[in-house]
Parts: sequence; structure tokens; C-alpha cells
Amino acid sequence: MIAERASRPIAVFDSGLGGLTVAAEIHRRFPGENLLFLADRARVPYASLSISLIARFAAECFDFLLAHDPKALVVACNTVSSVCLEETVARSPVPVLGVVEPTARAAAKATVNGRIGVLATKATVRRQAYDKALSRLRPGVQVFSNGAPLLVPLVEEGWTEGEIPRKVVEHYLTPIRRAGVDTLVLGCTHYEYFKDVLREVMGAEVSIINTPQVTADELGAMLRDRDELQSADHPGTVTIFSTDINEALDIVVRSLFPEPKFPDQITVHSAQIPPHRAESVRCA
Ligand code: DGL
Repeated sequence: MIAERASRPIAVFDSGLGGLTVAAEIHRRFPGENLLFLADRARVPYASLSISLIARFAAECFDFLLAHDPKALVVACNTVSSVCLEETVARSPVPVLGVVEPTARAAAKATVNGRIGVLATKATVRRQAYDKALSRLRPGVQVFSNGAPLLVPLVEEGWTEGEIPRKVVEHYLTPIRRAGVDTLVLGCTHYEYFKDVLREVMGAEVSIINTPQVTADELGAMLRDRDELQSADHPGTVTIFSTDINEALDIVVRSLFPEPKFPDQITVHSAQIPPHRAESVRCA
């Protein structure tokens, strides 16, 4: 029974390509696991939508993933984690892990001077998801947040290197750097693709929390506790669904999963997400 449960896939969701960095880290750390990843690229960026629409789109995507009978659902999107994680946990028949809590826990542990920067989507900043989590985890901590709306479209466009992305990153990070933070949270999984530029702009002495890593850690601990971690004896598959497929997706998939262990270990499929009735999803 336990073996049967363990062999079910792990579902990972993001509005776009950001969460694929989390899926890649889970695959690296737990190579025996079968992964399903869904990117709702036809409707990204979510952060510019209303809260109720974000909740509705996310619920539609979760239903798509849950129909594949996963053993856990990882919400690798800070925006959705900030907007409707509680509702998702309440509706889900399997354990749900968002990215805000693991990232905030790591940041609360890492800071020495108690000043933490959060670069996030405007929706996540507005929901004060990190401010709330960090002050609960480490009372008295000071949080300096900034919304960085142009970074998600740049990633979806496949434009993560060169002068323009660097200028955009500098623009959004300058107020955070000037605040004297010693720890930086990337409060959007898309920003992982700008890691090198972010590191250059912030300087080597600032710790940048690695969301894919800390999320994979917590997922591993959760599955281990439930006796549902799959052994690495047989390499698992990675099935990537996207509501829109283009060249940028192929390039990112090839760079994050460069060496498949067998043909068709990593596959990409187009997904059609059936719409919910608007009134069927509520969120606070
Ligand atoms: N990767 C998502 C996040 O972590 C992007 C949000 C969006 O679609 O605006 O927030």
C-alpha cells in the first residue's frame, strides 16, 4: 500500500516557467520520483490579475493536476501561494506545499542584521505574504519589499541575459540594496533565472535564499515522514504540461534538464484547462 502510494507522481504548478526551476531541483534531489509540472503560460502573468481571477485560474490548474492522482502538490508560484494557499490546502485531497513558508523560514534563519529584502510580484507584495510570515517566524525583523513586474514577461520571452534584463533588475533592486539588507528573498520563482545578475547587483555578502532548494528540502522531509519517498533505483520521468508551447519553453526545458537518462524521460505536452464557473472559487 505504502509502495503504491509512493509511486504516484509529485505535481508541481506555476503560472509560467519560474516553477520549472523548483521542479528541476526536486528532480535533481529525488531522481526516482515521477514529476508532473503544469505551467499556465497562456495566462501568465497572474500577478497583474484580480485576486479572484488568480484564485480561479489556480483552482482550474490544480484540478487538472489532481486528476493525475499525485501524492503531493507543490505550488511553485509565490503569487498563488500568497493569494490562495489556505483554500488550496482545504480543497486538496493530498498534502500541499507552497513556496512562501519554506523560503521565509530560510530567510528568517539566514539574516544576522534582521533586515531582509523581498523582490516579488506586485500581488505578493500587496498580500504582504513575506512580511507576515517573516514577522511570525522572527519577530522584530524588518522587511523591505519591492514589486518587479517586468521580470516575469522577460523570462517568458526567454530574455534573461544582457543589458536590458540587467538594467531592469538594477532598477528594482536598488531601493532594497540601499536599505542595507543582509538577506534577499526572490519572492517569485521566475527570478531564479536572473540569479547571476541579482548576485552581482547585491554583492557577495548578501545571502540570496534558494527557493528551489529549500522547497525541495521541505518536500523531501514531508514525503519521508509519510513514508512516500521513492527510491532512486529507477530514474523517474518528468512530464511537463503547458497551456501554451513555444520555443522559449523548449530552450528552458533543455537547459534545466540537460541529460535525460533514457529517451522520453522528459516530455512536453500541451494542456487544455477546463474553466470553472466564476462563483465556484472563493478566497479571502
Ligand atoms: N512564478 C510566479 C511567482 O512565483 C509568477 C507570477 C505571475 O504569474 O505573475 O509568483
